[in-house]
Amino acid sequence: MEAIVTRQVELTNAIMGHAKEATPYDQLKAAIADVHPPTAEHSIRVRIYATSIGLTWGLSGRELTNLAIAAEIHDIGKLYVPIAILDKPGPLTDKEWAVIKKHPGWGAELLEGVFPGQPEIAFCVGHHHERLDGSGYPGKLREHQLPVLCRILAVADAYASLTEDRSYRAAFGSRDAMGVLRYVEEGKYDKNVLDALASVQISLHSERSFRFNPNTNFTFIRTLISV
Ligand SMILES: [Fe+2]
Repeated sequence: MEAIVTRQVELTNAIMGHAKEATPYDQLKAAIADVHPPTAEHSIRVRIYATSIGLTWGLSGRELTNLAIAAEIHDIGKLYVPIAILDKPGPLTDKEWAVIKKHPGWGAELLEGVFPGQPEIAFCVGHHHERLDGSGYPGKLREHQLPVLCRILAVADAYASLTEDRSYRAAFGSRDAMGVLRYVEEGKYDKNVLDALASVQISLHSERSFRFNPNTNFTFIRTLISV
């Protein structure tokens, strides 16, 4: 608990240190980069994927703006998580998972009142780990409760996570990542959003044909895209 409070103070100080930034959005982005650069890098990729999907989806300018902001600060609540848990190279204990699972709610709370008139931003941040089949967190929301911006953010976040190198595994190629989201995680992500992601033909990663390897540890993969 003490470690969480220390992290909250650290992030609050970083945000205050950027109080002269042009907008609250700039202020929050700069604070994330100060406190945990890997989260900032991941968030930029999530924003790029989310807005690419949003453009092919035909979102309005307002929706695209809200999606871009939510994407780039979606993990801000993660910065309250003690660094020993956040950067732990091995598997997390149940207790550590319980702390990680608080990050969407912490993020939404932090954003309360920051974007008046754009409640979609805090909602998407608070629910970016929900899954259509109700297996996500923190609210176990289901398909009909998840607006399209949340669905797009969930896909962009999971895709970005899978295609990033981690200390304990190499990045998935884009086809493999799509295969995981479509087939291993079937029913959890919006198929139309996955089609939209495929249609933007992101070529930042090497492409390999997806195949089910009987030795693949899908539980482990599931863990990777749930943080
Ligand atoms: Fe997250």
